[in-house]
Amino acid sequence: MTLPMDLPRTIADFELRAAELLDSGPQGYYAGGAGDELTLRDNLDAWRRIAIRPRVLVDVSERDPGTTVLGRRRPHPIFVAPTAYHGLAHPDGERATARAAAAAGAVFCLSSLATASPAEVAEAAPEGERWLQLYVFRDRGVSDELVRAAVEHGYEALVVTVDLPVLGVRDRDARTGYAIPDAVAAPSVGAMGKTGAFSMLEIGELIDPSLTWADIAQLAERSELPVVVKGVLTPEDARLAAEHGVAGVVVSNHGGRQLDTVAAGADALPAIADAVGDRVDIVVDGGVRRGTDVLKALALGARAVMVGRPVIWGLAVDGEAGARAVLDLLVAEFDVALALAGVPRASGLGPESVQIRG
Ligand code: FNR
Ligand code: LAC
Repeated sequence: MTLPMDLPRTIADFELRAAELLDSGPQGYYAGGAGDELTLRDNLDAWRRIAIRPRVLVDVSERDPGTTVLGRRRPHPIFVAPTAYHGLAHPDGERATARAAAAAGAVFCLSSLATASPAEVAEAAPEGERWLQLYVFRDRGVSDELVRAAVEHGYEALVVTVDLPVLGVRDRDARTGYAIPDAVAAPSVGAMGKTGAFSMLEIGELIDPSLTWADIAQLAERSELPVVVKGVLTPEDARLAAEHGVAGVVVSNHGGRQLDTVAAGADALPAIADAVGDRVDIVVDGGVRRGTDVLKALALGARAVMVGRPVIWGLAVDGEAGARAVLDLLVAEFDVALALAGVPRASGLGPESVQIRG
């Protein structure tokens, strides 16, 4: 794999380049976390605290980074996390990121707060695998319509985000007074009659804070698509998910944007894998920036990882090509990590592949 010459070579460099290109409002919105941003930082540190235990003199001449998630074989375990408002990073928005994901063989998870509709994204990247992230809005009709569109347009799973009954304390946005401009509209928000510039706090108020496991059970029972719950951080909730008909969980703290000082996904993952790894498929996100992070996630029991901000940085730097480069470089790094860890097949990773540093 060769990256286009003029693009950054690492995700960290994409981050720097994107920060130069983006206006301060969107830049703060994308980069920011909740409160003192301790969890935001810990999401990166947690992967770094884990050491890989490499084995040598293993034949790694043939490698398979593939993984099976929701009963389907995927070429590699790197998925695109749902993130809102790609139109703020690039005029092509989600159409470009979905095309990039399709080209990179990554599952693309479309946000309920996307600047393109499920139909438009399916049309832009018909060959790509796509999931729909669902916010259950107070206006349930709007969420129902998103689900209907997902079924109609070939989405393969519903990812219900459960860690945002209310918006976290977003001081960066409060400081800049950032408001999503009128020109960058999300169809679902428009469907709720909201027009003009508005803050993320106002968006948060559109979401139904009364959601409970009973709603999840009902959705799972009625849904034609498998339901994945995103935003689980404890084995207790992971068990409840399994008991309420859920096919998968995303171990996630929403990129450090919701409740500050909760555990990083990397730290929450092992206990959750112990509790439900044999019953539901586990995906983890937060701070995945290197192929070695992906290896650690799979070693600790995840079947896939989701990456959020890096894809947006790629999009901001060079639209579809930039987002594609970000995904390709993570896949390439993961392949090198497998070879050097002496685990030629991703399915062969296990707890013995890593060591938590004391
Ligand atoms: C998000 N995230 C998110 N999650 C979700 O379920 N629905 C959404 O609309 C959004 N929107 C969103 C916007 C932005 C700008 C960010 C950074 C994040 C959370 C996202 O899916 C994921 O959990 C984190 O981004 C993962 O952390 P990293 O990879 O960004 O460190
Ligand atoms: C976020 C939302 C909307 O900004 O999920 O994190």
